[in-house]
Amino acid sequence: MVMEYAKKPEYWLCTECGARYTSEPMQCSKCRAIDSFEAVFKENAKTEAKKAPILRKPAGVRRSEVVNIVNINPDESERITTGSQEFDRVLGGGITTDGIVSIAGDPGAGKSTLLLMVAGEMSKRRRVLYVSGEESGRGLRDRSDRLGITREGVTVDDIDLYVVFETDMKVLLEEHLPKLQPDVIIVDSIQTLYSSDIDGTPGYEKQLMYCSIKLQEYAKGKNVAVFLVSQATKSGDMAGSNKLLHLVDAGLHLTGDDQQSFRLLRSYKNRINNAEEVGVFRMSGTGLTDVPNPSEEFLAERMIANPGSAVAVTMEGERPILVEVQALTSLGGGGNPARHMYGFNRDRAFIPVVLDRYLPYVDLADEDLTTNVVGGITIRENAADLTLATAIVSSHHNVPTPADWICIGEIGLTGEVRSVPRIETRIKEAAKIGFKHVVVPRLRESISRPKGIKIHEIQTVDEAMRLVFSKTITFSDF
Ligand code: TYD
Ligand code: MG
Repeated sequence: MVMEYAKKPEYWLCTECGARYTSEPMQCSKCRAIDSFEAVFKENAKTEAKKAPILRKPAGVRRSEVVNIVNINPDESERITTGSQEFDRVLGGGITTDGIVSIAGDPGAGKSTLLLMVAGEMSKRRRVLYVSGEESGRGLRDRSDRLGITREGVTVDDIDLYVVFETDMKVLLEEHLPKLQPDVIIVDSIQTLYSSDIDGTPGYEKQLMYCSIKLQEYAKGKNVAVFLVSQATKSGDMAGSNKLLHLVDAGLHLTGDDQQSFRLLRSYKNRINNAEEVGVFRMSGTGLTDVPNPSEEFLAERMIANPGSAVAVTMEGERPILVEVQALTSLGGGGNPARHMYGFNRDRAFIPVVLDRYLPYVDLADEDLTTNVVGGITIRENAADLTLATAIVSSHHNVPTPADWICIGEIGLTGEVRSVPRIETRIKEAAKIGFKHVVVPRLRESISRPKGIKIHEIQTVDEAMRLVFSKTITFSDF
């Protein structure tokens, strides 16, 4: 008995909502319950945790309780981390315990891989149900072996991960969910679910919305987190996606295909986290791994001595990322030169025209042009215009861009270079990666200047090119 007393509990468990405390509280800060605490000792900690009731109320506030707005603590909503820092970054620190998140992407992007990994990770702490309508048991198990979720020595006591091959919404809601009571539900994919309550085949927009709404009701009512996989029909266009976006707390898009190892996870809408964020992954033989330093990875294969290459600093949400831009100019068949500008928005097609017109040493009238951005990225902002110009001039003159130079700026129709947002952040990232010279539009305000990088302010694309290629192009010849 004395021994029993001497032992300190591992934690106190709120039997009302499952919250844990390191010391015995007066009142549960999550569900406000009083006198609902049970001391949990070390050896039974694991089994107790599994038996612990699932959070049934929104964290901090009881549903249907009137509270003063001052008393709402925005940070109080509990998050479940995904086990991937990149994924958590996009979600703003994990999924909220009653959050509903959609993940869209083309077939082969890696949605099922990503979510099975997340399922495996979350199941160490929560009960997870993976609803598969797309794959066979064999396929799913093979994948799980590959990802290392199931491997020799792993038993049913180690992971709380369940799989059901069900496409009937009614069976899911009335049988499986009440019986299993998961904390997290992953639906792969929402297009395969259907309900006999309404007309239409699975995947049909009405079906898709109905099933999503039903799941949302369940999630909010029972405090369950839901991931919905949504198949995109073609890039950026998901079946019923716009309507689905209204419903979910966060709408994410995974891009990349079988040809490329990089995968980008972007948030299109995020009610949980206002900042626009991007997560970067690499697909390998054992699943998707986080890429915490994308700039370095994207530049890893750069051939600095080759003409036609230049580096851009793009902002992906709050994060500056350096990527390699390539251009190839070649004598065309005469007449209409071909322009294939991969990796850039179509409206950037005027850049070669501006160069042709305003740079006496560039004549692209008879040259075909192909551009690309390494890593399968599409640059969606104009700040990379000057980099694109550099790559084109480099290819046209068959001279490499000096390896430690980088350009930032938007190009206008009269050959002027315009300022871009977040210049300070971009310069800092360039300096961090080791660039020694950065060419930027004239600065309108003072910025902090990182050590080791020289900032060259310019006003026109001509001025910029004369600086970058001062040692390799004889400008006086033109
Ligand atoms: P998948 O997750 O099935 O894509 P989605 O669900 O978006 O259609 O898988 C995408 C690709 O990833 C597939 O071609 C196989 C490949 N892959 C790997 O390269 N490594 C792995 O560990 C796994 C599981 C898949
Ligand atoms: Mg899939």
